[in-house]
Amino acid sequence: MPLPPDKILIVDDEFDISAILQLHLHDAGYLTEWASDGEQALQLLRSDGHALVLLDVRMPGISGMEVLKLLRTDNNDTAVIMMTAHGNENLVTECMKAGAVDYVPKPFDIEDLLLRIQRAIDNRRIAKEKQLLEREKEDFFFMLSHDLKNPITAVIGSIDIVRGGRLGPVRHEQADYLQSAIESCEEVVAIIDNLLDIQRYNAGMMQTISAPVNPFTLLAEVAERFSPAARRDNIALTLNASADLAEIYVDSSVMARVIANLVVNALKFTPDGGSITLSCRSVRRGELPGMHIPDYVVTPEGFYDFQRYACICVSDTGSGIPPKEIANIFERYVQASNLPRKRGGAGLGLAFCKKAVKGFGGCIWAKSVEESGSEFIILLPCPHNDLEYTGTVQETHS
Ligand SMILES: Nc1ncnc2c1ncn2[C@@H]1O[C@H](COP(=O)(O)OP(=O)(O)O)[C@@H](O)[C@H]1O
Ligand SMILES: [Mg+2]
Repeated sequence: MPLPPDKILIVDDEFDISAILQLHLHDAGYLTEWASDGEQALQLLRSDGHALVLLDVRMPGISGMEVLKLLRTDNNDTAVIMMTAHGNENLVTECMKAGAVDYVPKPFDIEDLLLRIQRAIDNRRIAKEKQLLEREKEDFFFMLSHDLKNPITAVIGSIDIVRGGRLGPVRHEQADYLQSAIESCEEVVAIIDNLLDIQRYNAGMMQTISAPVNPFTLLAEVAERFSPAARRDNIALTLNASADLAEIYVDSSVMARVIANLVVNALKFTPDGGSITLSCRSVRRGELPGMHIPDYVVTPEGFYDFQRYACICVSDTGSGIPPKEIANIFERYVQASNLPRKRGGAGLGLAFCKKAVKGFGGCIWAKSVEESGSEFIILLPCPHNDLEYTGTVQETHS
């Protein structure tokens, strides 16, 4: 269906100019309306439906500039092109600042004016469509967090009650199935959380509360959380770190999710009988060149300004990642081509890790040998604590 013609309001106290303009605009396929002063223009613009206003700057009564300002205060975003015979550069700047999209000096070159009118109308249409899409995206994310995540969390709670035997005895095998159901639901919640947080980071609206955190404590908590899953899959989960490392400055719950994402991946891609190691060590600034941070890693501003860094690694003996694809797996929705079998997931975990680590002033990358295993390395500055690294190593096995 063809679009209805766009309606243009001409606001000019000079009848002759307006009449000529109306003729040209009709010929070009537009509908027109005429207002001879600002008062009448504001009245007409109260009813919606104008694609554009051609607004004379100098008029008796309310000036064009005042009309423009009143429109914008009223949240009316109709495209406005200013017209004047008395143009100067200051006036142009003032009009643009007040929200005009363009400016034409009288007398008009009609071809040029028609081009500018169509461009302004097209731009406004595109901006409106973008606004609409943005609103739909917000609605979608709201729906994800409320209408999807909340019921799944409730499902997890209910299954957990049954699995825990609070409603009657549960056989070992039944408990195992219920545990798998919980883990699948938790994976969906993790995907939603990753998606929402990537969106928040992109919009600059991710709220984190950073504080000095001992990386060993973080790793130990994550290792403990995943040791039952590792045991079930016959994978040795090892923590290899010193307890007296310098503190990193992070939001501990966000950072714990980063490490958990890496461990979940390691568990997913490591076969029976394999092993996963979580480790952390202190690194001095002088040692950074020896870390061989790959070129695809963009370090945040000021990254090299610290004396000391924590190097957190999650390594596994799993399927590995094809070398050409390593740089891409940190992008949203990217999964490597060598997935051993359909492993689910959405390709969002590492994208979240990258955003979060960058947000804490650090960087993340991966090393891998296909068929042998992968290692994910995080470097985070230790801005507060200058404790000497003692090199003592404490090991816990699952
Ligand atoms: N430890 C790992 N071993 C092998 N491949 C991995 C590992 N971690 C991540 N990958 C690859 O990177 C991809 C992206 O990971 P991620 O962003 O966490 O998404 P998802 O886990 O949802 O697939 C995975 O699909 C996989 O191809
Ligand atoms: Mg993942």
